[in-house]
Amino acid sequence: MNDALKSFLEGLDSLAQDCESRKGQACSLKELDELRIEFLGRKGKLAQSMGQLGRLDATEKPAGGKKANEVKQCITTLLDAWQAELSQAESGRALSRFDPTMPGRRPWAGSLHPVTLVMDEICDVLTGLGFEHAAGPEVENDWNNFEALNIPPEHPARDMQDTLYVSERIVLRTHTSPMQIRSMLKRQPPLAVIAPGKVYRRDSDLTHTPMFHQIEGLLVDHNVSMGDLRGTLTAFVRQLFGARTEVRFRPSFFPFTEPSAEVDISCVLCGGAGSRDGSTCRVCKGTGWVEILGCGMVDPNVFRSVGYDAELYTGFAFGLGIERVAMLKYGIGDLRMFFENDVRFLEQFA
Ligand code: PHE
Repeated sequence: MNDALKSFLEGLDSLAQDCESRKGQACSLKELDELRIEFLGRKGKLAQSMGQLGRLDATEKPAGGKKANEVKQCITTLLDAWQAELSQAESGRALSRFDPTMPGRRPWAGSLHPVTLVMDEICDVLTGLGFEHAAGPEVENDWNNFEALNIPPEHPARDMQDTLYVSERIVLRTHTSPMQIRSMLKRQPPLAVIAPGKVYRRDSDLTHTPMFHQIEGLLVDHNVSMGDLRGTLTAFVRQLFGARTEVRFRPSFFPFTEPSAEVDISCVLCGGAGSRDGSTCRVCKGTGWVEILGCGMVDPNVFRSVGYDAELYTGFAFGLGIERVAMLKYGIGDLRMFFENDVRFLEQFA
């Protein structure tokens, strides 16, 4: 063996020893990484020694290369073992800082909005009675929102609802009643649908907001009578407000129903007495009744506009405001509470 090979091999041996002697220097994974770069990096010590390989005789190169590979393997094994030791120690330290006796932190649970809760409950009751769910757009054309519902242009009934216009013939729907039209245009009787959703009116004060929620109901078949309407709505409000709720139908007017009625229920606060603890009930103002919905028998003109035979079919429709029901159910006095989204208010419905 000539001197060049000898010193090459010795150099590699001392590299391995050097690395072995540095164990104490690697106290953290970061320091160990630095050591790995120092020895095995692209410009590290091993790479430098390998650079000398070119100076050996061709016959000696295989022996030199073999040794270099052995040393590389040896250093890698060493560093890997230290790494395993160190990472175990580090996770041990992290665990010792973890105190399993500390009280847990309760995750912050959200809650459904009261309008959503009431909407869901109303839909559950009505689907339980056999109504199917229908959905449609909040941006509606004039024909669906008014004309087909027996509200022609210039009809004074358009003043009942302060309409928000998108363009001359396009409105933000002022009620869910256009869903009656959309449902009937889609299919033939018999049909029983409900359509919940947002509606818009140019109105804003203590008891009105520009957007609120309604749910519409429509049932069409042969021989549907006012008695069916009464029976259905009585069952509905009793499921919603309790079996002892009294129901009263008052004559009213809507262009799309004839006859029309408004439905009152016995006051949810005073139970119909009109007073509570010796003073006038603040919910029903002493009358014992609160208004809950509008309804009636579908006007034959509405059937005509969707191509139903008004001689063959009759039907009833009803519509109610969700916020109003939520106020009565939860005893909320101010409509604006629903829209301010104060967390302290919303949390109470969790
Ligand atoms: N659309 C009416 C309103 O918004 C409610 C209603 C619906 C009345 C269906 C009768 C029948 O006031």
